[in-house]
This record gives sequence, C-alpha cells and structure tokens, in this order.
Amino acid sequence: MFGIHSYGLFVTAGVLLNLTPGQDTMFILGRSLTGGLRAGLAAVFGIAIGTMGHTLAAALGLSAILATSALAFSIVKWVGAAYLIYLGARLLLAKAAAAALDGGTRSSADDPRSAFRQGILTNVLNPKVALFFLAFLPQFIDPASEHKTAAFLVLGDIYRHRNDVEPGAGLCRGPAAVILPAQPERALPDRQARGRLVPDAWRAPGLVALGQFEETETMKTIIEPFRMKVIEPIRMTTRAEREQLIAATDYNLFSLHSDDVLIDLLTDSGTGAMSANQLSALMRGDESYAGSPSFYRFQAAVKKLMPFRHLIPTHQGRAAEAILFSILGGAGRVIPSNTHFDTTRGNIEATGAQAVDLPTPHAADFASSYPFKGDIDLAALEQLLKQRADAIPVVMMTVTNNAGGGQPVSLANLRAVRALCQRFNKPLIIDACRFAENSYFIKQREPEYASHGIPEIVRAIFALADGMTMSAKKDGLANIGGWLAVNDDELARLARNRLILTEGFPTYGGLAGRDLEAIAVGLEEVVDEQYLRYRVRCNEYIGEALKKLGVPIVNPVGGHAVFIDAKGLLPHIPPLQYPGQVLAVALYEVGGVRACEIGSVMFGRQPDGSEVPARYELVRLAMPRRVYTQSHADYLIEVFAEVVSQAANLRGMRITSEAPQMRHFTASFARL
Ligand code: F0G
Repeated sequence: MFGIHSYGLFVTAGVLLNLTPGQDTMFILGRSLTGGLRAGLAAVFGIAIGTMGHTLAAALGLSAILATSALAFSIVKWVGAAYLIYLGARLLLAKAAAAALDGGTRSSADDPRSAFRQGILTNVLNPKVALFFLAFLPQFIDPASEHKTAAFLVLGDIYRHRNDVEPGAGLCRGPAAVILPAQPERALPDRQARGRLVPDAWRAPGLVALGQFEETETMKTIIEPFRMKVIEPIRMTTRAEREQLIAATDYNLFSLHSDDVLIDLLTDSGTGAMSANQLSALMRGDESYAGSPSFYRFQAAVKKLMPFRHLIPTHQGRAAEAILFSILGGAGRVIPSNTHFDTTRGNIEATGAQAVDLPTPHAADFASSYPFKGDIDLAALEQLLKQRADAIPVVMMTVTNNAGGGQPVSLANLRAVRALCQRFNKPLIIDACRFAENSYFIKQREPEYASHGIPEIVRAIFALADGMTMSAKKDGLANIGGWLAVNDDELARLARNRLILTEGFPTYGGLAGRDLEAIAVGLEEVVDEQYLRYRVRCNEYIGEALKKLGVPIVNPVGGHAVFIDAKGLLPHIPPLQYPGQVLAVALYEVGGVRACEIGSVMFGRQPDGSEVPARYELVRLAMPRRVYTQSHADYLIEVFAEVVSQAANLRGMRITSEAPQMRHFTASFARL
C-alpha cells in the first residue's frame, strides 16, 4: 500500500527503536520528571511537531531524488543502512543515553509552554533526527511506487506516534530504569540545581526512573550534610498537656521549660549542634589563665576569615557591643545602622547615645523578593552623615539583618557604605553574627560573586570594615562565645582594659579554652558551601510550604529564620491585641512548636509609658543550626496547616502584668 514494503519489519524496528532511549525520550523524560505531567505532555507535542517537520522534509527531499535517479536513491538507502548499523553499534557500546539524559534535562524550563517550545527545537535542530529519517524511512519504501511522497508521510507519521506514549512509557524505559513509588512530599528541591533527574520529580505520573544517575551532586534533594552520632530525645506531649502548660505560664513562651517544647524555634543563637570535630576539640581545650594555645588556635581561625589587627574574645555578642559602645557611645552620639539588633540598640542607648535604623525601603515590602532587603538606605545614611557628622563616631552594618527579617546585605551596598565612611572619615563596624549565611546569599544573588568561594566572599566583606562585633552562638557554630575585632590600636587598648574589668584576661575573655576550640573548628565548618546550601534551603522549603497554605511570610525567607506576618494571617485581631503572641501560643498548643513574637509585645511599650502598635506583627521561626531534620520541618508545616484551619476562631490577648523594659521576656497575658 502507498509503496510501503516490509510494514511488519518497520513496526518491529520502530518498537525496538522506541525501547532505546534517545535524546527526544530523554528530553520528555526530563521535562516530565522536573515539570510534571503537563510539562511532559507539552514536550511530547513539541517533539511531535518537530518530527512532522523532519517527515515532510525527508518525504519531499527524497521523493525529489527518487524522481530523478533510482541509483541516487539506492545510494541514499545503502548509506542510510550503514548509518543505522553504526548507530546500533554505538548504542550497544556507549553511554549515549546517560549523556542524552543529562543534556536533555539540564534546562531550567519546566513550565509546559517552554517545554513545548524546547521540544520543537530539540527535535528540529537535532541533525541526528534528520539523518535518522533519511536513513530509516527509505528502507521501507518501494522505489517503483507511484505514491512515494505519500509513503514517506505515512511512515513518518506512524513513527511520530511513538512520542505520544512517552511521558508514561518513557519513564519505564531503558535497561537502567528503577521504578519507585510516588513520594511527592519528601524532597527539598533546590531551584539553583534544578534541571537534573531528581527526586522532586516524584511529581511525574506516579513513577520515576533512576538508574545510572546517582551522583549526589546531580540530585535536587538537599540532604542534611551530616549524620547523627549523638541524639537528644524530645519529650513528646499531648495537646491537652500543652494547653495546661502554656496557661500555667500566663501564655508567655519564654517561661516554658524547654523540655516541654517539641520543636524549639525561639532562637538560632547558641542552640546549634556541634560536630564530632568540635566535640573532639573540646578535649583539646587548654584552660590556662593566660596564653592558652586554645586562644591562639581561635585567633588563627578568626584571622583567616577576618584579618583585623586586634582580636578580643568575649563571652557573647552583647558583651562585645557593651565594650565597644562604652568607648564609642555617650550622650549626644548617634550610631546609624541598616537595623540594630535589640542588644546593640540597648547597649548604645544605655550609654545615652542614639541608635538609628536606616533600612532600605525594600525591606518594608514583605511580598517583594528583592534580593538584598538587608541593605542600608544609602541616601538616608549620606544625609545623616552630612547633618550629624560630628555626632557619629561609627557606622554599623548588621549582616544578615536579623531585626530586618534575616535578610542579607549585598557587597555592593557594603562597598558604597565603605565609600561614604571614607568620605566622612568614619570607621565601619560590622555586626557579623551571620556572616556566613550573608556570604552565601551574596554568592547566590550577586552575579559578580557567583564563582567565588565562601571564604573569599567573607574576606571581601571584612576587607571593607574597620572592625566587627560577633556572637559565635550563630555562625561560630558554638553554644557560647563572641568577640570584638578592630584595626585601631588605641580603640583596642581601651577595649582590652574594659575587657579585663568585665569579662576576663585578653586570651580568654570570659570563655573557657574549650569554647575557644569549638569556635575555631566551627568557623572552618560554617563556610562550607554544602552546609550553607542545606541551611538556606531548609528555610526556603518551609517558606514555600507555608505560602502554599496561605500563610503570609516575609519574602524571601531569611538565612536563619522564616518570619510570619501575623497581622496578615490574623487580620481580625487588632495589633494591640497582639496577633503575633496569639499565633505563637497557638503554634505551641497545637504542635508544641515554640516561636518568638516580634511585634507589639516586643516593641509596643514606649519610653513615656504609652503603647503604640509596632510597625509589623511578626512571628519568627528561628532555625537552630544542624539540629532539626526534614521530618521536623514537615511536622512544623502540618502544625501550621492546623493553625490556619482554626485561624478565624483565634481570639486576641491582653497583657495583665509587665516589666518596665524588655517586657516580652516576662509579661503575663490573658485571652480576651
Ligand atoms: N547582633 C545580632 C544581629 C544578633 O542577632 C544577636 C543575637 C546579637 C547581636 C547579640 O548576640 O546573643 O551573643 O549576645 N541574637 C539572638 C537572637 C539572641 O535570637 O536573634 P548575643
């Protein structure tokens, strides 16, 4: 019929060819796996259209050759046969399928429209497909037939239909395929690493093919880059128990015993897990009063990343702040910052100086995904420096900006701050608690630094500064510790005098030798990119799930915490009925999760005794480092789902007693 011969052989050969994964199959497979069924189908249609193009070209071109010379056609046919044999031999010998899969799935486009476009391009621009059509189809066409063009078209169309079953069948294909059951919720997909054959693809139609693609760096699931050697049991509680326990504290989460908490997200400060290397280093701790080798190991580790001339250890961050501002603060002084953390503000104000926050205006827009919401408002800083130059002893920058949602500061912003500081002859001091997380964000979001190593970025940050304060309880990966580091000799001399008075001798500064050892090792571990990638991804994972539940969060998620917009979630509760506190209490009652209100409870009471709603009503879910697993994250998300379902029934609160300062730590509440 239509000049087609050996039709049975054509079908058999076609089926056999379809069992052999090629570039199209791999493209469809890849799109199905990363983009789901819709993307897979779109890829099928794209490739089908590309194949039609090849069929048409082959039919018209070969018919033209055939029309002029039977010998020319025979030559095409025999060369084609040789090419098919060559292809078969290569398939048997080579790892072509793996290469094809890799190339076919590396793209970033998983939405159906781009899968469709790419499908057409992948197919049309693939010279192998053109060659294949030229080689394969003529083998089944009778050169003497009158319907040669029609024969080409019919065979081409039959062959094309192989694609229509590929999103499903393709998944099961290939000798290396391992078929696994669907498991949609377990992956921490990484947008940066998207495009490889990865477990997020459990979303594909129920099945997934793995096999020779097992290298961990090709996987989208970012596993905890550690395993457990020591565990700390969590005491399980029931909801009824928790309702009693929180009522007994007058609804103040700070008053709970921490073993009554299932997942403690109150802070990421000092709550991290130490590594085996850190725990081993503890034993090396030399507790000599002066000149301990532990201090020199600590000093070497700090100077490797932050090469300031003088290093002054303290028992934690606020002690470094207290020492610094006891020297630089004082009545009439003004200290600008992107946003001061509350202990920094407290230590500045305690000297009579004024702490001024100048966050970028982008920080106020929770919905925007502006990459560096931790930046300072440069115009506002310049204006303040112009107006109050004499009153400003130093400019501070907090990286990441904790009080501003854990958002990072860009190197571009830091460089501009440096330039302003030079212009006005002011030192720049960095509050560096989360320097490693900030550096990771710079690598991710500031294209200039995409290929830089984390330690390199860290050094670039500190090269811009004249000094730093640090809480080693955050990116020092230690449970206690901190330091002040400066270049200025006179400032260092004054600081050491103060240190001896309040903290201890300059080679231990309020810390045990073993703590200095833990920090020294922690600083090496914290700049590991795999660790930082996992850390940031955990927060993104939680943030994405909360958004799906309709929970408004501060975007993008921060490096150390996810911030919930409690006012957005509980719009029926007025700010002075403390929606953040209501949410935090509900999270505890429902799931034993402890979070921290950062809203009108924390900031509402004014120095004159009046009460004014805070700018935002936030709840912070701060993630301890290396402590919780993805199951804990999934549990947290489930707790939120339950709280969301009850949100409309939650009632506001009032404060029944409070301390004159920092009332959130000890205030008592009652339900309205
Ligand atoms: N600076 C920033 C940006 C901080 O986040 C903290 C502490 C400090 C300074 C003070 O350090 O606690 O060692 O005295 N933040 C913790 C938190 C308490 O929960 O965010 P510290």
